[in-house]
This record gives sequence, structure tokens and C-alpha cells, in this order.
Amino acid sequence: MKQLKTLLPAALLTFCAALPSLSSAADLTISCGAVGAELQLCKEAVEAWSKQTGHNVEVVSTPNSATERLSFYQQILSAQSADIDIIQIDMVWPGMLANHLMDLREVLAADATQGYFQSQVDNATVNGRLVTMPWFTDSGLLYYRKDLLDKYNKPVPQTWEEMTSTAREVQQAERNAGNPNMWGYLFQGRAYEGLTCNALEWISSQPEGGLVDPQGEILINRQASRTALTLAKSWVGDISPRGVLNYTEEEGRGVFQSGNALFMRNWPYVWALVQNQDSAVKDKVGVAPLPKGGTAGTHASTLGGWGLAVSRYSANPKLAAQLVTYLTSARQQKHRALAGGYNPVIESLYQDPELLKAMPYYSQLQGILNDGVMRPASITAERYPRVSNAFFDRVHGVLAGELPVDQALAELESELTRIKRRNW
Ligand code: GLC
Repeated sequence: MKQLKTLLPAALLTFCAALPSLSSAADLTISCGAVGAELQLCKEAVEAWSKQTGHNVEVVSTPNSATERLSFYQQILSAQSADIDIIQIDMVWPGMLANHLMDLREVLAADATQGYFQSQVDNATVNGRLVTMPWFTDSGLLYYRKDLLDKYNKPVPQTWEEMTSTAREVQQAERNAGNPNMWGYLFQGRAYEGLTCNALEWISSQPEGGLVDPQGEILINRQASRTALTLAKSWVGDISPRGVLNYTEEEGRGVFQSGNALFMRNWPYVWALVQNQDSAVKDKVGVAPLPKGGTAGTHASTLGGWGLAVSRYSANPKLAAQLVTYLTSARQQKHRALAGGYNPVIESLYQDPELLKAMPYYSQLQGILNDGVMRPASITAERYPRVSNAFFDRVHGVLAGELPVDQALAELESELTRIKRRNW
């Protein structure tokens, strides 16, 4: 623990301070996410496994921001620390963290990934090594208030332009009707990985839009990006609060769930929470594909998701693999979907009648996943964080009104070209 503290930047020390027993007598330590019901579900499942097996497991929570989580793990892994055995890995990290992670094929049963979506297994495999066990999948969704669209006789918006004008109109009408706190649209606008996901959707939904294509070609300095970013900038301070510039997933969800927003872009986990007994918007929410970039554009939804990996520096990799097997089992995936809205990565669960009943948007999910956009993590591998940071920093500058769109795109193009050098 002492060693960890000297390694971690100040912001992350708060997390370690809250975890005084990192180097305790636990047989295993697992680090889980804490967005939505994640931490609670992780703790409950770990406890159940502990009871069954008699092993003592420490659960370590992490920052909500995926970018902060990554630096936390990078510090721990580059110090080759044995303090954390199991790490929850974002689907854009396998390429960059592979060297620090075990090949799970060496410790898991031979059929461990049977029935999993092949794309998930492929994404988790780096140079033939299965470095993470896929756990749940994410895709960007448009949450909307059914009751308010009905009240103002508006359809679910099909384009970003339509979303903007509906949001503006309903926001104003609701404010006039006595809710001064009403907002039209919420999204993840902090300078972090979540903004990369949002901005990639805006840009990819425009004709010929993109950041870096799967072959590694840099696409960003195009009209598609100009149109998308100009529109997004117009939202801030108009249909989105200025505070959105500091929102991750949970800040926006809080505002939406208290009844103060018409539209929100967020991940599937939000469904379980807005439908909770204590939610102010229970039964008033609908889910739709994100709008298209104009009528000639397409619906684009950034694909996300997380897996469980075992650190190469774990003193107990076999035991760690047993816990990973338990947590990623079909039973657990179904439970996590029902209780927390974390979408399974085992194909057959999408035919499960109980799940289909509880998740009315599953029927649309296939289409949304088909329109899924991958972040360029495979092609850029260990350079991906630099690519994403360059992207979200420039986009944030534009949204904050500090950087003209044209300048942001030109700067981004040269920075990506520098990062790329000859090849990624
Ligand atoms: C979600 C996604 C993850 C993404 C993150 C960004 O957790 O599953 O892939 O990186 O959001 O905030």
C-alpha cells in the first residue's frame, strides 16, 4: 500500500485512502467499477462466492471516469504490483494492457468462451492470448421522456437537428409551465473517455464521418466533423447546462432521473435505475437509437463494455480465474442484466423470456448494435489513450467555446498524424 501511494497521482489517492486494507490478508483482491449498481452487484456476487468457497476477497472500488480508472490501473500494473488480482477492463484497453495480463486460456476451462459473441471474444484476444473475459456490453442510447413528448405531441427525434429543436421547444414550454430547472439534452461532456464516445457518435452519424478508420487512416478533418461539432457546441448553455462540460455518466443520470431533462445520451445501465421504485421518472422513459446526422446520415452508437482480467503479477492466478468464471457465468450475467441493466455477452441470453420481458428495448438492441461504432482501439493499440485524449481535449475546447471548430480539427489532424508516425 505504501508503495502504491507514492506511485499514484493525488486525485487517485482518495481511492486508496478509502481502501486501507489493499494489502490485507485477503486471498484475492478484485477491482470493480462503481457506475450505477456495479459496485453493489460486484460485492454481492463476490460475497456469495466467498461463502461457497471459504475464500476471503477484498473488493476495491474505482473512479467513475474510465480515463481516471485507466491511470489507476496503469500505475498499479507498471509497478508490477500484486495488490490487485482481478481487474475490470474496458473493451478499448486489451491492446494496451495485454502485456500485464494473463492469458486466461491457461487458467480457464477450455470451453470458457463458448456461446459468447465472437466479436467479444475477438476483441478480448490479443496476439492469440485471451487477456480478458468479456462481462457486459454497452452501446450509446437515447433516453427520452415519453410523457413529455406525448404532452407536446412530438415524435422521437430521428436526426440531431430534430432533437435540438424539440429539446429547445419543450425545455422552454416546461420552464414557462413552472419548472425553471428543465433541460433539453444531457450528455457526457467532461474531458474524458465518455466524451470520446459521445463525439464519435455525433461525427460518425454524419455522411462520411469518422475519427480513424479500421485501416488506420485519419478521417477527422472533414465536413462531417465540422457539422457535428458546430451543432454540439450550440447545445451548451442552450439545451444543455454549462455544467455538462463536467458531466460523466452519473451526473447526467441524476438530473434526468429527478425529472429535469427531456433527452439524455447514456448507456443501458441507466434503464434499470430510472425504472427503480424511487425514480421520479419511473414508467415515463423510452429508449431509442441515437439520432442520425441529418436525413442522409445514419444512427451511430459507440460500442462499449467491460471484461474481467487477471493481472500477470497476481500471486494467485488460478484462484482468481475461478472467481472470474463465477462472476462471468450465464447465471450472473442474467442477474446483472435484470438487476442492473448490464447487457450480457452470451448470445443465448438474448432469447431468455424473462430478460426480454424486463428489457423492452432489447428488441431494438440488435439494430442499435448493428449500427455500432468501434473506437479505433485495435488499430492504435497502446497509442489509443493518446488518440482518445487528443480527441476529447479538442472537442471539449470546442464545447467550452475556447477553440474554433476549424482550428480544433486542424490541430487534431496534425496531432494524430504525429502520434501515428509511419504506422500505428
Ligand atoms: C462505458 C463503456 C466504456 C466506455 C465508458 C466511457 O463504461 O462501457 O466502454 O469507455 O463508458 O465513459
